[in-house]
Amino acid sequence: MHEHLASLIAREQARQRDTLSLIPSENLTSQSVREVLASGFSHKYAEGYPGSRYYAGNAVMDELERFAWHRAQQLFATDYHVNVQPHSGSEANLAVYAALLSPGDTILAPALDHGGHLSHGHAVTLTGKLYTIVRYGVGTDGRFDLGQVRELAKTHQPKLIVAGVSAYPWQLAYLPFREAADLCGAALMADMSHVAGLVAGGQHPSPFGIADIVTTTTHKTLRGPRGAMIFCKPDLASKIDKAVFPGLQGGPHMHTIAAIAQALTEASEPSFTSYAQEVVRGMATLANTLSAGGCQLVGGGTNTHLALIDLRPHGLTGRHAQDLLERVGLVANRNSIPHDQAGPRNPSGLRIGTPWGATRGLASAHWEQIGSLITGLLTGAMTEETARLAVHELLTTIPIPHQFS
Ligand SMILES: Cc1ncc(COP(=O)(O)O)c(C=O)c1O
Repeated sequence: MHEHLASLIAREQARQRDTLSLIPSENLTSQSVREVLASGFSHKYAEGYPGSRYYAGNAVMDELERFAWHRAQQLFATDYHVNVQPHSGSEANLAVYAALLSPGDTILAPALDHGGHLSHGHAVTLTGKLYTIVRYGVGTDGRFDLGQVRELAKTHQPKLIVAGVSAYPWQLAYLPFREAADLCGAALMADMSHVAGLVAGGQHPSPFGIADIVTTTTHKTLRGPRGAMIFCKPDLASKIDKAVFPGLQGGPHMHTIAAIAQALTEASEPSFTSYAQEVVRGMATLANTLSAGGCQLVGGGTNTHLALIDLRPHGLTGRHAQDLLERVGLVANRNSIPHDQAGPRNPSGLRIGTPWGATRGLASAHWEQIGSLITGLLTGAMTEETARLAVHELLTTIPIPHQFS
């Protein structure tokens, strides 16, 4: 390996060892996942699908992809058709739009500053340019305004409704979105990217049986490699598959598909259920400590893996708070909050989550300590030096488990 690359790898490993990621979309993967990812599966072109490839030599690839399908269906207890080829969550979502819509058609989706994702039709993305986007958001109680969703569905007659979030602290109930979709004959797409691991671990409602299509990334709470999957009802299978390949992509990343199969297998073990419980329990403890310490949580709290801190009462911007935390070894991300007057580059919120920390082995008492450190820093009651030493001490006592290092 080139020495510069080796040194970059070593530096990044040290950074991950010596700091704590509170970014709710990040996680550690097991050694097995990374071993599979680095396997010779990456050498093979397998354009097409099992039983119908464009190149020879794909008997093993066919078996591998079918194995991944089977693992995915088993984990989520579903008979939906599954496509494991999308290279990323954004491409999975784009493939769904391409499969079901024509340019100009209307999508009803969550607004970015109310918890949605760029790939849900934001103006800076291709999805926002190709389709007409109508946005729903949260009401005064910080929860999605389901009355607004129904009204917008009736008024704008979207062809597709998106239920899925990147920065929303509450569990999503999918049934009200189904009802809204049925009011206008729209298809319902659940994007469970953030919560897939919680769904697998029984800590979040499942969209299966309710949504027509379920998309997910595989690298967040699900603890797999970077990638994505699309599940759909059988009648949509052919359209979805064609939209992924040849519609948007060429050869599938078979090494990633294999690593996804490994992650899905790990997620079906009882220890993963305990992990998912620990993620939610840890977040509840962290949120309670933050609230008790004077932080204002967007939406009033959380019952998932993440929370958003409204920084305005502290007179801080998102960028300022992100930098402050990073200097003491806590890595979080600045985030827009509902009705944010500040722009997305320096918004008024800070997004925090427990998926990475729970994999590292942090439990409730540790989350209390992290919460106290964050409130101390944001309120100015604690010096950076004190917080830095406390983070260092905590992380020294809880090294990254061997299995994930
Ligand atoms: C809800 C949701 N959908 C889609 C994506 C896009 O995933 P990717 O970064 O793999 O394109 C994300 C990523 O953060 C997400 O949170």
